Amino acid sequence: MKPELKRAAELAAEYIESFDTHKVSQETDADALRAKLYKDLTRDGLPPLQVIEELFEDAKDGLLNSAGGRFFGWVLGGTIPVSIAADWLTSAWDQNAATYACSPAAAIIEEVVADWLKDILGLPKQASYAFVTGCQMAHFTALAAARHKLLADKGWSVEERGLAGSPPIRVLVGEHHETLLRALRYLGIGTNAVVRISMEDDGTIAVAALKTELEKNPDAPTIVALAAGDLNRGAFDPFDEVCELAHAHNAWVHIDGAFGLWVAASDRLRHLVKGIEKADSWATDAHKWLNVPYDSGIAFVADPEAHKISMTIPVAYKVEFENVRDQFEWNPDWSRRARAIPLYAVLRTLGRKGVADMIERCCDLTQDIVKKLGELPGVEVLTTPIINQGLVRFLAADGNHDARTDEIIKRINQSGEAWFGGTWWNGMRVMRISLSNFRTTGEDIDRVVAAVKAALKT
Ligand SMILES: Cc1ncc(COP(=O)(O)O)c(C=O)c1O
Repeated sequence: MKPELKRAAELAAEYIESFDTHKVSQETDADALRAKLYKDLTRDGLPPLQVIEELFEDAKDGLLNSAGGRFFGWVLGGTIPVSIAADWLTSAWDQNAATYACSPAAAIIEEVVADWLKDILGLPKQASYAFVTGCQMAHFTALAAARHKLLADKGWSVEERGLAGSPPIRVLVGEHHETLLRALRYLGIGTNAVVRISMEDDGTIAVAALKTELEKNPDAPTIVALAAGDLNRGAFDPFDEVCELAHAHNAWVHIDGAFGLWVAASDRLRHLVKGIEKADSWATDAHKWLNVPYDSGIAFVADPEAHKISMTIPVAYKVEFENVRDQFEWNPDWSRRARAIPLYAVLRTLGRKGVADMIERCCDLTQDIVKKLGELPGVEVLTTPIINQGLVRFLAADGNHDARTDEIIKRINQSGEAWFGGTWWNGMRVMRISLSNFRTTGEDIDRVVAAVKAALKT
């Protein structure tokens, strides 16, 4: 075996097997990192083994160990080892998953994985799909289909005529991630098209307010964007009710289920996504809660025709085959990584029960950590976790809870024992707990609670 391949595999294994001893994060000085990584680009190059070994050493201090079990920031999953192994094969095979002809195996693996996912996630069998880089591009892909369909229904071909002069699309949103708005920008729909619908106290869209808005302008081409698990509370919109209401007004319902959609895999949690199959499109990630490497998002569209028309391009050199799917007709990109391969490996390894167990375990551990943190003096629990997201803040004797919360987060993160992010919620500075890593254990939780306790004392 080439020494650089062997060494990279050893170093990678060493890295992922030693999270317990790594600091989750370390003080990183950008200039110190630059000093290490800015090498002279030599004329004749260097031995590959040396390059790999130096890369590992030089990048080390700049790695956020978010793939380990004591990382609770944003919503980042880890990587189940078999998915890393399959990702290596993906790179070694170096297939261009643009067309069936480029890689029959990659094309068929996408079909298989999409069928498994639709089954696990409770989505309609006929839904079309695209394996994209992340939920951001899943929004873009799904909403391109929405844009096509809503305007085609008005006799307007957006693919040929663009948006100038088209009937304006409006987008009704409740709780949403900013990537949804960026997808609207990419699509030329623009953020001025967004109408924010008021929210219930539990973080879900107010159905009565949505109804009023839908009735205001019944002929407008309309997208209703819902959340399956919002970032702060993990709240789920009432899909059943909203889909019926929106469809009665010919609106397209899009669901951001970047991580929350995965609760559909669990018998215990599936009730949270009741009615989800009635939507028109769904965007999710595999690199979050399925714990596969980046870049891995998936778009599903209930109307394959709208999906395909919005993405396909004519290619003179297309090789025709019977009964196969050319991925470029469904994706925003052309040449692309065969990114369904790690999903194939991880789904086969876990099985349905393994996926469900992983999701449930993360939710149970989130309950556990929030409860234990809430028992510490000076910690206020703001939301009881619905799934894997929780919010707490730290109270100050002088009443400046925002500053105290920031200070405690800083101390915890500096300890290297855990990593949490801060955010604003209901006008308060809060610490968000997000747990979507298969690696996190009960021992990790105890270790983290001890670190928070220590941070509170100093
Ligand atoms: C609810 C939600 N939607 C969309 C996204 C964007 O996903 P990605 O970073 O995979 O594009 C995120 C990322 O955190 C998210 O939490």
